[in-house]
Amino acid sequence: MRNLVDIHSHILPFIDDGSKSTEESIKILTELKNQGITDVFATPHFFPQIDDDGDFNENLQNSYTELKNAIKDKCVPNIHLGCELLYYYGISNSDSISQFCLGGSNFLLLELAPYKIKNKLLKDIISLRDEKKIIPIIAHIERYSYTKSFGKLLKFIKKEKILTQINASSLFERKSYKTIKKLIKKDIVSFIASDTHSIDERPPMMEEALTLIEQNFGQDVKLKLIGNSKSLLEKILEESKLNAKNKQLISN
Ligand SMILES: [Fe+2]
Repeated sequence: MRNLVDIHSHILPFIDDGSKSTEESIKILTELKNQGITDVFATPHFFPQIDDDGDFNENLQNSYTELKNAIKDKCVPNIHLGCELLYYYGISNSDSISQFCLGGSNFLLLELAPYKIKNKLLKDIISLRDEKKIIPIIAHIERYSYTKSFGKLLKFIKKEKILTQINASSLFERKSYKTIKKLIKKDIVSFIASDTHSIDERPPMMEEALTLIEQNFGQDVKLKLIGNSKSLLEKILEESKLNAKNKQLISN
């Protein structure tokens, strides 16, 4: 497979529970490239209750710079910066949420806190979208299947056309596979991503996952998921240019 975009990964070294060294990051990036990935979003975790956004941004830039220098002569995917933000109550009241969006766009990779999947969270997601104009993408949606509110969450996602992402590796776990099968039938999976954390324990599995999707759910589903990530990258690149222009206009 070629020209794939991976919107969720933990490839930056030393910043979260993902890559533990620059060497490991290079190994993961090389594996992504071998699986046909041309562009990857580095989305380290941000946990609002314990992380400081100033420190996070500094660490992110340092980690990215170190990795960029190390891959100068290497044939690896293009890296775009982002974050995987853990949901917190009142997220839609924040005025600085855009700093966590993917590549300076308005798309936000949002991890849900399972015990917080309640009406308040659903309202927050709507406010983020409608008032703050931030478009949430729910990370690894299949992971919340054990929660009491999963059915309600799915109805909400379907009704409000909320974007969702599944992990490639989840297709190879029996329970998660069953959930993903249900989600694909309901047509509520927008993206597939690696969420890779390491080369040994949580390696990229995009190629195997897309092959399995084609075999079990059909070529159309596979092509739709690949196409969605590509279109998202294009939108993000456009939006980030526009947002940067607007920022400049405001500061002038
Ligand atoms: Fe993740």
